[in-house]
Amino acid sequence: MRPRRFSCLNHSSAPFARPPNTTATVRSHTTTTKNTTTTTTAAMVAENFEAVLKGKYPAKAHARRVVDILRQKAPKAGGVFYLESTKTKLQEDNDSPEHFRQRRFFYYLTGCNMADCAVAYDTAADKLTLFIPPIDPDDVIWSGLPVSIDDALARYDVDEVKYTNEVNATLAHLASRAGPASTVFALAGQVSDHVTFLEFAAKDFEALKPAIETARVVKDEFEVAMIRKANHISSEAHGAVIRRARSARYERELEAAFLERCVAHGAKEMAYHPILAGGKAAATLHYVDNNAPLQGKQNVLIDAGAEWDNYASDITRTFPLSGKFTKESRDIYDIVYKMQQDCTGMIKAGMLWDDIHLHAHKIAIAGLLALGILRGDASEILAARTSAAFFPHGLGHYLGLDTHDVGGNPNRGDKDMLFRYLRLRGVIPAGSVVTVEPGVYFCEFIIKPYLEDPVHSKFIDAAVLERYWDVGGVRIEDNILVTENGFENLTTAIKEPAEIEAAVASG
Ligand code: GLY
Ligand code: MN
Ligand code: MN
Repeated sequence: MRPRRFSCLNHSSAPFARPPNTTATVRSHTTTTKNTTTTTTAAMVAENFEAVLKGKYPAKAHARRVVDILRQKAPKAGGVFYLESTKTKLQEDNDSPEHFRQRRFFYYLTGCNMADCAVAYDTAADKLTLFIPPIDPDDVIWSGLPVSIDDALARYDVDEVKYTNEVNATLAHLASRAGPASTVFALAGQVSDHVTFLEFAAKDFEALKPAIETARVVKDEFEVAMIRKANHISSEAHGAVIRRARSARYERELEAAFLERCVAHGAKEMAYHPILAGGKAAATLHYVDNNAPLQGKQNVLIDAGAEWDNYASDITRTFPLSGKFTKESRDIYDIVYKMQQDCTGMIKAGMLWDDIHLHAHKIAIAGLLALGILRGDASEILAARTSAAFFPHGLGHYLGLDTHDVGGNPNRGDKDMLFRYLRLRGVIPAGSVVTVEPGVYFCEFIIKPYLEDPVHSKFIDAAVLERYWDVGGVRIEDNILVTENGFENLTTAIKEPAEIEAAVASG
């Protein structure tokens, strides 16, 4: 068998996947931004993003944005950007291609989801040229006709489309036009050996990446529509999983229920490996086995999100397998729910994410004090960082072309345990999309050392804690668009405890 050339069509250019069947799930939900409350239906939201997505991915606007950012640092910066897409790669000792994942930096400047392409952007002429693979007659019988130059021009927001065998000649022409000061900007380690850049006076492999990373933090309307669509489909899939809870015997059956809904709606790629964790497995933050039996366990934590044309969703829900939270599970669910609601309510452009994360810890401490799991003075507990035993990860991260999107400036070397795993540090701008994902977990491996350390053990009541191990862990995660005056929640999956219980019970 000859290998198939992998060519993954974008949804925006292929016929649209059938919109989610909103008739079964239409319900009113309230979108709260600071100062405004509007009631919309799922169907209205769906229509809005579908209308936006009928346009082209705004590659040209992205290229201009990157130039603007480069020029903030170097006012005269200019020349040619050159990027290559992911290459087709065969599996080891096999003629099938490896799973294809488009390079995000290339996608950002093209909206093109095909393998073996390249792009050049001439900053002086504001001209974007996409290079696509030429027709390989031997390949057509296996893979069908590839995208033609005319197809690509109609599909992508570029000025010109050429074949990849014209890359060097085109770059030479662009360099000669730019004259003796011509610079080519590229990404280190992502340029094919046969692409020489010989005619350019200067090569810059440093500046382009951080400039695109900065550009990617603030999303435009099209990008938000992509994330919204990924959320719309994934939220419905979360509902399907919750309704499947009572009949499922193994975690994998719930994973299958999630994937079924996503794939049926055309969202075949997951933003990350789904997490379906029953009982104590929920305390393993990135549990991926999804194979254990569910019998005898209190809750399932599902952290799963589909992509839509490379844009991620990242959603977590926790639900009781019986249809009714135990007292202990509900105690913890209520704390995490309050952390999530209150921290989301703080979001608006200009807020310091670190402060919102800190606030989540304060709510966790107050809640665990009220239950008697913690004891002592709240501010002393916060100062000792004891709450990290129960909430060991960050409140959230940027979301976009990557699940843990670029531009967050984390500091993994931070000596302060409370901030070491916070993937987003600093001020959040309008147009960025963040996850808000507080959690409270009962992980023996993490908590035991705290129980043995006198700095922390005086704040923890081990006897009360004993009743909570079987809760496993609770996390609730939504995807939030930051606006000038507040926020918009892009995630529509149910999360109110009574609604969750009713959905499980209805299954
Ligand atoms: N699903 C990975 C995360 O929540 O960050
Ligand atoms: Mn997640
Ligand atoms: Mn997340």
